[in-house]
Amino acid sequence: MVWDTVRFDSLPPDRMAALEALVGPPDGWTARRDLQLRLLAELGLRSDHSFLDLGCGPLRAGLPLIATLAPGQYTGIDVDADCIAGARALVSEFNLENRTPRIVQSATFGADEIPDEVRFDRIWAFQVFIHLTEPLVKAGFAALGKRLADQGEAWITLRIQDDAPGFEVTGAWRDVYAINHAPLSYFAGLAADNGLSLTRLGRFDGRTKTGWLADDAPQAGPVTQVMVALRRTF
Ligand SMILES: C[S@@+](CC[C@H](N)C(=O)[O-])C[C@H]1O[C@@H](n2cnc3c(N)ncnc32)[C@H](O)[C@@H]1O
Repeated sequence: MVWDTVRFDSLPPDRMAALEALVGPPDGWTARRDLQLRLLAELGLRSDHSFLDLGCGPLRAGLPLIATLAPGQYTGIDVDADCIAGARALVSEFNLENRTPRIVQSATFGADEIPDEVRFDRIWAFQVFIHLTEPLVKAGFAALGKRLADQGEAWITLRIQDDAPGFEVTGAWRDVYAINHAPLSYFAGLAADNGLSLTRLGRFDGRTKTGWLADDAPQAGPVTQVMVALRRTF
C-alpha cells in the first residue's frame, strides 16, 4: 500500500490539537497515524479489502485509509459523538465524500446500525479494546465474531498481564473510558467463545518507531501491550 498522507497535514495546529485530545497522546497525531499505516501495510492490507476501523476516533488513520481503499470499502465506528462529528467534518473538508466512507456512531459496535449480513475482510481496533470495561470487551469480541468475513482477519491491540487473576480495570482514560488488562489466555477464551482463533503477533509499543517491541525489551510495569490477529475457526 502507498499512503497519501501529505495533504492531511494541512490542518492548523489548534485544530490538530483539538482532534488529538480526543484520541491522545498530545503531539502524537501524525506519529500514531503513520505508525498505524505502516503496521497495516506490513500486515498485508489491500485496497480491495472491506475494512472496519473499530473505534475510529476522528479518523487519524481513517483519512488516508478512506483515500486509499477502494470506494465504499471503509467503515469507521466510534461510540463518541465528538469523534464522529470530527470525522464527518474532516471527510467533508478533504472532499472524501466520493470515496463513500460509512461513518457510524454506535454504542453497540454497529449491531444496531449496520445490517447483520455486512462482513469485513479486515477489522482494525487500534488501542480500543484496552479502553473497554469487561462487558464491552465481551460485546466487542462478539462483534468481531459476527463481522469477520470467512477468510477475514482482525488485528487488535490488548494490554496483557499473564499473572493477573483475570480481567482487571486499573485506571481511566479521558475520565470516561477504562484502562484494562488481563492474561492473554482470557482474551483467547473470549475469541474461542466467538468462533475465532487468537494469535499473538508481537509486543506492541506506540512509542517505538515501528510499533513493535522486542520480546526481551524491559517493561516499565507488569503489563505489556500486544497486537493479536483473530481468524475464524469455522
Ligand atoms: C485511544 S483512541 C484510538 C482511536 C483510533 N483507533 C486511533 O488510533 O486513532 C480509542 C477510541 O476508542 C473509542 N471507543 C471507546 N469505547 C468505544 C466503544 N464502546 N465503541 C466504539 N468505540 C469506542 C474512543 O471514542 C476513541 O476514539
